[in-house]
Amino acid sequence: MKQEHVLIFGGNGRIARSMTALMLARSWKVTSTIRNIHQKDNLIQIGKSQPGSINVLNLDLRNLETSDDAKKIIETVKPTIVVFAAGSFPNTYTIDRNAAQRIIKASTETPHVKKFLMISFPSSRRNAAPWWGKQDVQNWQKEISSYPDIADAKIQADEYLVAMAEARELRLGLPFQAISLRPSWLLTGPSTGRVKLGRTPTLGQVKILDVAAVATSLLARDDTNGWYDLVQGDDCIEHAVEMCVKEGIDCFEGEDLQRI
Ligand SMILES: NC(=O)c1ccc[n+]([C@@H]2O[C@H](COP(=O)([O-])OP(=O)(O)OC[C@H]3O[C@@H](n4cnc5c(N)ncnc54)[C@H](OP(=O)(O)O)[C@@H]3O)[C@@H](O)[C@H]2O)c1
Repeated sequence: MKQEHVLIFGGNGRIARSMTALMLARSWKVTSTIRNIHQKDNLIQIGKSQPGSINVLNLDLRNLETSDDAKKIIETVKPTIVVFAAGSFPNTYTIDRNAAQRIIKASTETPHVKKFLMISFPSSRRNAAPWWGKQDVQNWQKEISSYPDIADAKIQADEYLVAMAEARELRLGLPFQAISLRPSWLLTGPSTGRVKLGRTPTLGQVKILDVAAVATSLLARDDTNGWYDLVQGDDCIEHAVEMCVKEGIDCFEGEDLQRI
């Protein structure tokens, strides 16, 4: 099994913590950034009796003023994978857009970073998805008008990832997996191990533990890339990921790459 080193921004979040446990179980190394140092001991506990190792860094994402600030962290930590799992209702443009974009820029410009995953949500798109029915379109319009700032911040970050991954391939000629995992409303509780991944309805729910398992499974492979919408469903997670790869599913379909 390949050993990855994952740098997680927003490391104490619900999805991030669940992902950390699964990554450590795969013997991966995790460097987790948190803004509240009192969370450190609790995070380190996740690594107890796991084959992987965990390291914790203190970082308030509001202090990440430029992509060079992000680059310094990435160059010091030397991860192979970067994950952005932070989110902030009160500071959505500062965190979900600006910090995400600065980290994306720094990651795509750093040759040893091979994969990037961010957590977004299925309504983060400019155009109605081609696979949606009438009710999905209405639900999407309702969601983006209920949370206009979050929707706007997330779409700008998602689009930026697509653009910067393209630019990296052109500039460095190096492969880069740019993954936006887009779970619908999050639920706590035990994992089900079953999901619907790829072309999903706009609205749904999904267990946090299942989101983390999908994220880890997408990152464990070298052939995943693009936008993956996610709700609870009947497909076992590894099979759902395999089917998306096999069928070339990318929920970016219907968006306009030229405009971006
Ligand atoms: N809620 C949903 O149903 C839903 C659905 C789809 C997607 N999402 C998105 O999925 C992502 C992860 O969700 P989640 O529920 O796992 O998130 P979460 O538990 O709310 O965690 C977000 C993390 O971001 C960190 N953060 C916020 N501001 C920060 C700052 N200035 N500096 C450093 N860290 C900061 C928080 O730190 P503290 O621990 O210190 O507060 C927290 O650990 C978010 O972007 C969210 O918008 C959510």
